[in-house]
Amino acid sequence: MTTSILVVYATTRARRPKVALRHDELRLAGAEVDCLEAGTADPRPEEYDAVIVAASVHVSAFQRPVEQWARRHAAALRQRPTLFLAVCLAVLQQDPKAHAELRQIVARFTQKTVWTPAEVQFIPGALRYSAYGCLRGSS
Ligand SMILES: Cc1cc2nc3c(=O)[nH]c(=O)nc-3n(C[C@H](O)[C@H](O)[C@H](O)COP(=O)(O)O)c2cc1C
Repeated sequence: MTTSILVVYATTRARRPKVALRHDELRLAGAEVDCLEAGTADPRPEEYDAVIVAASVHVSAFQRPVEQWARRHAAALRQRPTLFLAVCLAVLQQDPKAHAELRQIVARFTQKTVWTPAEVQFIPGALRYSAYGCLRGSS
């Protein structure tokens, strides 16, 4: 039987973040994969064998739409294998305080959503300077 995987992602700047694009690799591995942006649809975790949620950290918090979706579906998420990918820059710092702060950010997310992912991974993000309005037009 084919494994079905739901990927729900949130992004602030990327049109399609790399973590979402990687879902093609899951397909190549033989899984059936649906990949949706939080806030644009309301997929039901009950319809999948496993769920991957990816969101990025902006000013010490994840995007509201992903928080709201996870809160709404917390009961179903708790009943299946889940992986939370937290895209951020602090993971690149050597400072243990920065890593503790990341754990706090995830802890706040799990408190708000009432869902504790089975596994959390911190993924190094990127700063796309050209995407930030304050830098546009500067030489
Ligand atoms: C305005 C802004 C605030 C950010 N705040 C944090 C932060 O508090 N902690 C962190 O680790 N990374 C922070 N980052 C880094 C982002 O998580 C990183 O750039 C990520 O790749 C953004 O992904 P996205 O463009 O798909 O949303 C911030 C980036 C921006 C532009």
